[in-house]
Amino acid sequence: MKFFIDTANLDEIRDAKAMGVLDGVTTNPSLMAREGRKDTDALLKEICDIVEGPVSGEVTALDAEGMIAEGKTLAALSKYIVVKIPTTLAGLKATRALSDEGIAVNMTLCFSANQALLAAKAGAAYISPFVGRLDDIGQDGMELIADICLIYENYGFKTEVIVASIRSTEHVHQSALLGAHVGTIPHNVIKQLVNHPLTDKGLDAFMADWDKLQG
Ligand code: G3P
Repeated sequence: MKFFIDTANLDEIRDAKAMGVLDGVTTNPSLMAREGRKDTDALLKEICDIVEGPVSGEVTALDAEGMIAEGKTLAALSKYIVVKIPTTLAGLKATRALSDEGIAVNMTLCFSANQALLAAKAGAAYISPFVGRLDDIGQDGMELIADICLIYENYGFKTEVIVASIRSTEHVHQSALLGAHVGTIPHNVIKQLVNHPLTDKGLDAFMADWDKLQG
């Protein structure tokens, strides 16, 4: 399972890279806005230079032509850029056009298995179902991941499933059990994954015994 970090914050990205677990990054307009930098292309390029793996940068045009033009500009920033496009009718058209030109697309804001099926058929390299936001409205986000993984397996689609809108370590655990290709995980959740009270307790006991030995 690949780990992407869901952020545009350079410190968080460097920290996850130093942990040795980072395969890529996903951003979106809200995450970019959080950084308060107007030079968004430069920021994306900096992220690519650190990560040296797939970095999703999202288009903001809502029509297919605009998405295609923006996607090409983003893709020219770095070989690591993946163009993130919303799962809409215009988005499908743009995904097909960009994919046909060899540009990797991550279709985002996916909330149904049918949307994921369309994304795969349109040639998307990745699909991003948002599990946390489904949980927020009383649905089961992980059930959607199970459905999409099964559908992709049924037909041998190469599109990779990025579990997005992850809010907890349990989302990561369930994603791995379901065989999702990627989890895009917030920095705080990545750090929480290593925690276990018995690890802390065991380490305290080891250190106390070691200190006794030193006299
Ligand atoms: O990758 C999608 C993610 O950024 C959305 O997360 O927590 O805003 O639902 P959230």
